Amino acid sequence: MTDRTAELTIGDQQLELPIIEPTIGNDGLGISSLRNITGDVTFDPGFANTAGTRSSITYINGAEGILRHRGYSIEDLALNAEFLEVAYLLLFGELPNQQQLAEWNSGIAGHALVKEEMKRFFDAFPNNAHPMAIMASATNAISTFYEEYHDPSDEEAVIESAIRLIAKMPTIAAWSYKKSMGMPYNYPRSELDYVENFLHMMFHLPTEETKVDPVIARALNVLFILHADHEQNCSTAMVRGVGSSRANLFTSVAAGISALWGPLHGGANQQVIEMLKTIVEDPEEDAQSMIARAKDPDDPFKLMGFGHRVYKNHDPRAIVLRTYADDVLATVGVSDPLLEVAKELEQAALQDDYFIERKLFPNVDFYSGIIFRALGFPSRMFTVLFSIGRVPGWIAQWKEMTEDPETRIMRPRQIYVGKVERDFVRLADR
Ligand code: ACO
Repeated sequence: MTDRTAELTIGDQQLELPIIEPTIGNDGLGISSLRNITGDVTFDPGFANTAGTRSSITYINGAEGILRHRGYSIEDLALNAEFLEVAYLLLFGELPNQQQLAEWNSGIAGHALVKEEMKRFFDAFPNNAHPMAIMASATNAISTFYEEYHDPSDEEAVIESAIRLIAKMPTIAAWSYKKSMGMPYNYPRSELDYVENFLHMMFHLPTEETKVDPVIARALNVLFILHADHEQNCSTAMVRGVGSSRANLFTSVAAGISALWGPLHGGANQQVIEMLKTIVEDPEEDAQSMIARAKDPDDPFKLMGFGHRVYKNHDPRAIVLRTYADDVLATVGVSDPLLEVAKELEQAALQDDYFIERKLFPNVDFYSGIIFRALGFPSRMFTVLFSIGRVPGWIAQWKEMTEDPETRIMRPRQIYVGKVERDFVRLADR
């Protein structure tokens, strides 16, 4: 809090609102006392202009396309770091030294197994269950094995839970996939690192010797880093919201997975591929017809992978992915007509007045699916991959929230526009 204030006049009432200063970025107008003094509330659908917290984890400048975690640029992290290093950075605020990283990695590796009873849980789902539904349910379900770690104010228990969650996420994800394919589950192996283990559990078959391709492992590492955190996005806001009621970390993260599944959020990566496939496979559709549909006010269709609440110039993650898509496809020797169509669609949209006026650019989901596809993942797994990447961010944000003395249970107000008061009408008289 600083001494700077802003003045608000409502009728003949004058209010001095404190200005909350950032280290960088937007000032905040403190309106907490507004309702008590004036009886009014603020109205901000989707909280598009509302800061619900102070945070020192991730900084985004949407006008300039900047994304930094704890001060480090996303480009720098994606190029130089390992995913678990970034997870440590998000959680603890600093990059780990060699010893810290070794301990962190081995702590996580030691918790990669899920309880054997969980197999029955996976088995209970129908074979065609969407892996995101299984992920969200399984994340909640594993909380039942660790009830003694549920207290958000027990620092040690929180770190233990964080390690367990990060460690078990690839196992849960791979088992969700194996379940959906009717294939046997693979166990994690201690000689493999985090990403290699996930690839092993995803693709190993008992019928043949399989080896994890280091190129694919590195590419997935980069993709996980690019998804690791994104300040107060929809799923993170849900994780914080659930956690604000002092619900445990597992359950809060399960809520984040559910929110991420939606096609306007992380689910967009699967939808982008469906859209590009339609263009390739349907002779009636092309980039222009998709753009025309997206612009039609009577059609709910949106150009998937385009637009962002915060980025109004470019999404730096999409820029990294665009070039990376070419590299990965060339390295793994895949030529995908969808990449050409994606580039064509991007160019057509970027030259279209509708998209220019609304500052709509490709977001992280536009190119990620093409890379996931080239790495051998089916499209129903794309949002699952996003969620593995996002888990450290959700945990860091949840931890920051529980440690923040300003935290209150999330409970927005409303503007009531329903009936004022009515007498009950008995069933026989209706
Ligand atoms: N295609 C067509 N029109 C769009 C698109 C799009 N992809 N995105 C936004 N618009 C239009 C809106 O219709 C609106 O037009 P209007 O002013 O004429 O009413 C205008 O652009 C502003 O868009 P809003 O929906 O108000 O923006 P908001 O910040 O609420 O939504 C969102 C952002 C949800 C990402 C939106 O752009 C969208 O639906 N994009 C497609 C889905 C997608 O790619 N989601 C992934 C986002 S990244 C992530 O979550 C990881």
